[in-house]
Amino acid sequence: MDAHPAPFVPPAPKPRASPPSTLQMIRIVYRNPLELWGEPSYNEKWISVSSIGGPLLIANDPGLIRRVLVDNAKNYKMARVRQKILRPILRDGLLTAEGEVWRRSRKAMAPVFTPRHIHGFAPPMLKCAEEFAKRYEAGGTTDLARDMTMLTYDILAETLFSGEIAGESGSFAKQVDRLFETMGRVDPLDLLGAPDWLPRITRLLGRNSLAFFRRIVAETMEMRRQRIARYPDGTPEDFLTLLLRAEGPDGLTRAEIEDNIITFIGAGHETTARALGWMLYCLAESPWEREPIEKEVDAVMASGTGPAEWIEKMPLTRAAFEEALRLYPPAPSINREAVEDDTYQDLVIPKGTQVLVMPWTIHRHRALWSDPEAFIPARFAPGAREKIDRFQYLPFGAGPRVCIGASFAMQEAMIALVVLMSRYRFDTVAETKPWPVQKLTTQPQGGLPMRVTRR
Ligand code: HEM
Repeated sequence: MDAHPAPFVPPAPKPRASPPSTLQMIRIVYRNPLELWGEPSYNEKWISVSSIGGPLLIANDPGLIRRVLVDNAKNYKMARVRQKILRPILRDGLLTAEGEVWRRSRKAMAPVFTPRHIHGFAPPMLKCAEEFAKRYEAGGTTDLARDMTMLTYDILAETLFSGEIAGESGSFAKQVDRLFETMGRVDPLDLLGAPDWLPRITRLLGRNSLAFFRRIVAETMEMRRQRIARYPDGTPEDFLTLLLRAEGPDGLTRAEIEDNIITFIGAGHETTARALGWMLYCLAESPWEREPIEKEVDAVMASGTGPAEWIEKMPLTRAAFEEALRLYPPAPSINREAVEDDTYQDLVIPKGTQVLVMPWTIHRHRALWSDPEAFIPARFAPGAREKIDRFQYLPFGAGPRVCIGASFAMQEAMIALVVLMSRYRFDTVAETKPWPVQKLTTQPQGGLPMRVTRR
C-alpha cells in the first residue's frame, strides 16, 4: 500500500498569543487583517469584545452563524465599515444594496443565474481558457496569481459583454485593477468612526478610475440597448442582455443595472482567481494529491462530454478546489450589524453590535476541523463532504445573501482546471513564498511564481 506523505501545511499567520494595542491594531488592519486574530478566535465558539467601533462579536459557532445569517437574518444588516468601503463604488449593486432595493433586485436577478444560463456560459468559458492557455506553450516561470486574475477577467468580460466593451478593452482591464487596488481597502479613518466629510486617502486615489469605469459601462450598456432594438433576435445571451431584460418597474432600474455590472466585475473574477491560484500552489506542494487529479482531468477531456457536465465527473478536482476555498477563502470575512437586540443561548447581542462571521477563522477552527492547517482534499470527497456542517464551511456565505455567483464560479473553476491541468504542470520554484494577505480578497503577497512545463 502507498504510504501517504504528511499533508502539506501551507503558509498562514500564527494565532496571536496576546491582543494587540489599539495602535498596533490599526496598523495590522491596514497591512493585513488576517494577522489580527489570536488564539481565542481559533478555539472559542464566540468572542464578545468592546472595540473602538462599539460592541463586536466574533461568531465561530455554526448554530450562532445560522442564527445571524439565516434564522434571524432580518435583524442583521450589512456592517457599517463594509458599506463605507464598498457602497461608494458599487452603490445599489446586489452586494451593497439593502432593504427593499435588495429584495427587488435579488428577485429580478434570480432568472439571470438559473442553471440553464450558467450552463450556457460553459462554451465561452472553455473558449477563453483554451485561448489563455496558449501562453504557456513556451514553458518558463510565470506569476500564476496574476495569470489567474487575467484568465478570470477574460472569462467575466466574455460572459458579461461578449467582448463588446465600448472603447479600448485593455485600458478597461487596467482601470479595474487600479480601482480595486485603491478603493477596496479599509481606511483607518473608517475604523476610528471618523465623520464622512473627512477625506479618505484610500478613496481619493480611486476617484478618477471610478469615473472612467462608470462611463465605459454606461456606454457599453447604451451600445447594447441599441443593438437589441435593431436586432432583437441577434444579440448574445450574456449577462448584459440578461440584465437589460430584467429592466422594468418590478425589476431593475437603469442605474441598478449599471451598479450590478460593476458589482459582477468587483465580486466575480478576483475571487475565483484567488482560489485557482492557491489550489494550484497547494497541489504543486503535494504531488501525491495532484497525480490522481491529473488523471481525472485527462479522463474528462477524453470523455467527449460538454464542459457544462464536467463538474459532475470531477469529484477529486472539486474536492481539492473546495479545500483551497477552505484554507484560503477568497472572501475571508462576512460582516453584519445587529439592528435590534438579539440572543442566542446565553449570549446577548445588543443592538448595534458588529458581527464578524469569518470564514478565515471558522475554516481553521480547532473544534470544527481535524488538522485544520493542513491541505487535505479528502475532507471534501463524496461521503466525507456530507458530514461537514453547512455553517462551518462558508466560502460563499449562507442564507438569503448567499453568493449568487457560486455555481458560475464552480463551473468556471472546473473548466479552467481541466484546460490548464490536462496540458501543463505547475511547480513551485525557489521564489515561491506566498503569504496570505487580506485586501478585498485573500491574496498571495509576493505573487505565485511557478514553473510551467508541458505534461
Ligand atoms: C470563488 C468565487 C467566489 C467567492 C468565494 C464568493 C464569495 C461570496 C460571499 C462570501 C458572498 C456573501 C457576502 C455576504 O454575505 O456579506 C458573496 C456574495 C455575492 N457574490 Fe460572490 N463569490 C464568488 C464568485 C462570484 C461570482 C462569479 C459572482 C458574479 C458573477 C459573484 C457575485 C456575488 C454577488 C452579486 C453577491 C451579493 C449577493 C447578495 O447580497 O444578494 N460572486 N460572494
